[in-house]
Amino acid sequence: MAHTDQIVFFDTTLRDGEQSPGCTMHPGEKLRFAHQLAALGVDIIEAGFPIASAGDFDSVRTIAKEVKGVRIAALARAKQADIESAARAVEPAQNNRIHTFLSSSDIHLEHQMRMSRAQALDLAAESVRRARSFVDNVEFSPMDATRTEAAFLCEMVKVAVQAGATTINIPDTVGYVTPSEYTAIFRMLRELPGMEGVIFSTHCHDDLGLAVANTLAGIEGGARQVEVAVNGIGERAGNAALEEVAAALLVRRDVLPYTSNIVNTQLYPTSALLAEIVDHPVAPNKAVVGKNAFAHESGIHQHGVLANPLTYEIMTPASVGVTATTIVLGKHSGRRALEHRLTELGHTLTREELDSVYHRFTELADRKKSIYDQDIVALLNVHSAEP
Ligand code: KIV
Ligand code: ZN
Repeated sequence: MAHTDQIVFFDTTLRDGEQSPGCTMHPGEKLRFAHQLAALGVDIIEAGFPIASAGDFDSVRTIAKEVKGVRIAALARAKQADIESAARAVEPAQNNRIHTFLSSSDIHLEHQMRMSRAQALDLAAESVRRARSFVDNVEFSPMDATRTEAAFLCEMVKVAVQAGATTINIPDTVGYVTPSEYTAIFRMLRELPGMEGVIFSTHCHDDLGLAVANTLAGIEGGARQVEVAVNGIGERAGNAALEEVAAALLVRRDVLPYTSNIVNTQLYPTSALLAEIVDHPVAPNKAVVGKNAFAHESGIHQHGVLANPLTYEIMTPASVGVTATTIVLGKHSGRRALEHRLTELGHTLTREELDSVYHRFTELADRKKSIYDQDIVALLNVHSAEP
């Protein structure tokens, strides 16, 4: 396959995302969310880890039966029972994938897997071959890839590709890598012989707050699949946030000239649906979808945004599915913002009236953290009651 500029979005909200505390979902909720992911335009949904429980198996199988137009993947350790379970679960999908993984770092092999490097190479090859006996589309992940010695990582990737892996994912399992290191890993792997038809994938955790930056760095290194989760949920500090990667590709086309199937106006509705389903509120300052992402409180910013939103907004709220910019009235607000809100509430004031109400407003805002419309109307009433 020729190297393209199309970025494949692999959503792992229902698998890695669900593994985070407070994010467990019932099968009905997973199905509802999977339909929304399809509407959002993701290319692949990692629907779960079928061997983990009967409930997860049923959930993946139901999604594979009912959600159309998107590839359905299931996770499996490099174990026969896992791979067979994943194969049965994704079997009803029009397009499916088995995603199998095995640790590659010495720290994991020695302390967790108790396995030599040679044994790990054999097992990786055997697992990919087994997965390929069920489906044509197999992803292999050397877990903890970014803490794996480079030469051994190359060996493991080579055996997985020779055994039939079509996508190679490079997980930054513990959120350790830096952007330039991650770019270099993809460049190194893509240079290996036999990698021509292989799609490389990012999978970044946010332990150092670098997951989105690392994902973009992976693309720079030649990765063409990104593994992401809505609202950035996932193990520990979470996974790279889908909406942030999509927004970066939308806003910075000048330096990130890639296409994808993501319907950007579905970003906020998808985030809101997930927040409704899981017990995990979106932080107000969360990029793109947080309640303050398009809110302006300072007078200088409000003045600019009221004159032209592009003064302080790098994307329109509508472009990511948010219905309005919020002008938040508080102690940093100026006369212009107050006048704007009063006009919206149906009150047109003379300059002197506005000055007087503004004076009272600043006194109130010093005392009260949140100013509501009722407070403003009350100020107006005090003003008109004055002799
Ligand atoms: O973070 C990780 O290494 C994973 C693998 C299962 C891909 O989630
Ligand atoms: Zn992960």
